[in-house]
Amino acid sequence: MLTQEENERLTRVGPGTPMGALMRRYWQPVAAASEMSERWTKSVRLLGESLVLFKDRSGRFGLIEEACPHRRASFLYGIPQADGIRCPYHGWQFDGTGKCLDQPNEPADSTFKDRVKIAGYPVEERGGLLWAYMGPLPAPNVPPLAGIDSPHAIRLLGSAVIPCNWLQIMENSVDAVHTEWLHGHLFEFVLEHKNFKTKFTRKHLKTAFDEFPYGIIKRRVIEGHTEEGDDWKIGHPVVFPTTLLVGNASEEACHMRYQFRVPMDDTHTLHLWYHVIVPPAELTIPAHLAGTVHTYDVPYTDERGGYFLDSIHAQDIMAWITQGPIADRSLEALGSTDRGVTVYRNMLRRELKRIENGEDPMNVFRGAEPETMELPLEFERTQGDLSPDGARGEGFAITNLRAMFSRHEGRFCPLGPEIVDVFVQHRQREPAGVA
Ligand code: FES
Ligand SMILES: [Fe+2]
Repeated sequence: MLTQEENERLTRVGPGTPMGALMRRYWQPVAAASEMSERWTKSVRLLGESLVLFKDRSGRFGLIEEACPHRRASFLYGIPQADGIRCPYHGWQFDGTGKCLDQPNEPADSTFKDRVKIAGYPVEERGGLLWAYMGPLPAPNVPPLAGIDSPHAIRLLGSAVIPCNWLQIMENSVDAVHTEWLHGHLFEFVLEHKNFKTKFTRKHLKTAFDEFPYGIIKRRVIEGHTEEGDDWKIGHPVVFPTTLLVGNASEEACHMRYQFRVPMDDTHTLHLWYHVIVPPAELTIPAHLAGTVHTYDVPYTDERGGYFLDSIHAQDIMAWITQGPIADRSLEALGSTDRGVTVYRNMLRRELKRIENGEDPMNVFRGAEPETMELPLEFERTQGDLSPDGARGEGFAITNLRAMFSRHEGRFCPLGPEIVDVFVQHRQREPAGVA
């Protein structure tokens, strides 16, 4: 349980708040670069600020305050220039740092433009994503996440705006037993109503939440398994502050499924599912699948507002949203399996302290040669995914891809069947190389 005051301190991210200051120390993914190939601007709500991402005619990206300081028209409809963008209303021109470069209808000798400034934040491209940084300069490096720079990969980006605070989404990632209920018993109950009776839930025997240099590794042993299983021995990581990695590696593919929880404001979170699927060296990915980030929207309700409870992502989202716009933690009653929640909150408190002391918080990288964040990937997962496809006798990566494109948010990615097919055909051609 938290006091109201502590709940506010840990959840609110707008300008001037302690948690907002901590979140501003991290690059936040705001779009796929490919989204900007057919458009010049995109509306971005980030850390309580309304912004516009734009591309100028020199191909540079900028992220500036949405409202023009002249008379408040939106730069979303601005006119891109060789340097920066002009307001659509009276043509004032700004560059990506928010500096006013021109006011076309002011007298030629006017110095007014030198006194007009708007917010402008650095934008960088990495892994096919556009990242924005709103913290104190100089900016650190974009996080060197494992696999992000893989030259030979299929990349997908699903996105949804979730109308709730980011912290309840992150707390879900350090809550191992919810999978047994939300993705187990509830799932079985939902399938029962579709006349598909099945039992796949298995009880958690043991969970652990261990700090490691980049965040927290969660581990579990479920019924029928032992501490020798990858779920316990390797586990999967929460990368501080707002990233989850649920991936798997095998001879057939290495699939990194990142989930980025981008705090838009106190009560909205941009949820991004970023997939990097790295095939084995001998498999050449068809050109139209490689070389860009394929984006798709991720719905989680039907047209009447009912959650898609036969899908794992929508089960989670239902839980997050029903906790309230900002979960009232003064009313919660944490039990023994909520230890991960406490570990994560303590980590937030510790890193808040570090910035109050003028230090960089964890996972801020500044070297000229950025290190790679080596993150653990399980070879074999036993919980979280149903495994009826195992009966097909297919390899582990293919089983997981099928699951991803049918029971997770990936079912809304139109390329799913084609991607599975690339790996299935490769397996049929080269069965010997596959476990
Ligand atoms: S409102 Fe932008 S130039 Fe006038
Ligand atoms: Fe979940």
